[in-house]
Amino acid sequence: MIKKSSKIPPAQRAAAKEQIPLYQREFYSWLYESPRLTRWFDHQYLLNILTFGTSSKMVKSCVDEIPISSDVLQMGSTFGDQIGKSAAKVGLYGHYDLLDVSMVQLRHQRNKYCYLYPFMRFINGDASRPIKKRYDIVICYMLLHEVPSATREQIINNALDCLKPKGKAIFIDYNNSVIWHPLRWLVKIFNRLYQPFAEKLWHNEIRNYARNPSGYYWRKTTFLGRMYQKVIVTKKEGLY
Ligand SMILES: C[S@@+](CC[C@H](N)C(=O)[O-])C[C@H]1O[C@@H](n2cnc3c(N)ncnc32)[C@H](O)[C@@H]1O
Repeated sequence: MIKKSSKIPPAQRAAAKEQIPLYQREFYSWLYESPRLTRWFDHQYLLNILTFGTSSKMVKSCVDEIPISSDVLQMGSTFGDQIGKSAAKVGLYGHYDLLDVSMVQLRHQRNKYCYLYPFMRFINGDASRPIKKRYDIVICYMLLHEVPSATREQIINNALDCLKPKGKAIFIDYNNSVIWHPLRWLVKIFNRLYQPFAEKLWHNEIRNYARNPSGYYWRKTTFLGRMYQKVIVTKKEGLY
């Protein structure tokens, strides 16, 4: 049933005006299109509570993969320290492009970082559409679980396609935890209620979405009883 426009919450109405994907409008606009809630959620200590203390470890693990002075693309904004710490590692002689479908998120990140890191660019666009520029590093941090499988496949392949030879894609996201994990059912129920596409990531490896997996070196590590994963994909030399 189509809702009367007066019954649609303001954040969802704003999202519909900007070409925001349907999955985001339906499930996440209440948060990502609300500047007030974005400010409220954007705290590293809160993320550490929500991820059972793992968020800061994952941020560090992401930052460790980024060489100084590299050309970086980040697909989707994140809350907390991740972007700030990654940009600090890149430094003044690198570039950091932040791509996001949401202008509210981009404005928030721009206000937070534009003076600290003048080499950052804030780009309004969709990571599931082809990307022209080539990068040393592509970061896709906690984005894949929020999108449907078809979009996930496009995002993963776009991330790999826009790597320079020897370039690296960093995927950090949910993973299928060990079966006896004490938080497994809590997370499962939360995902079923609020993150309907997340469980698919439990049952399909990121590598399985790649069009040409043999063109890359794959390395996977996990956190918190395999609840979260980091997948590092390095493009083999000579593949253009
Ligand atoms: C990367 S996830 C971050 C999840 C979680 N809030 C965190 O901070 O860890 C959410 C961001 O991705 C953006 N996003 C969602 N789909 C996108 C797409 N197809 N292309 C680019 N950005 C996207 C959203 O607008 C939002 O700012």
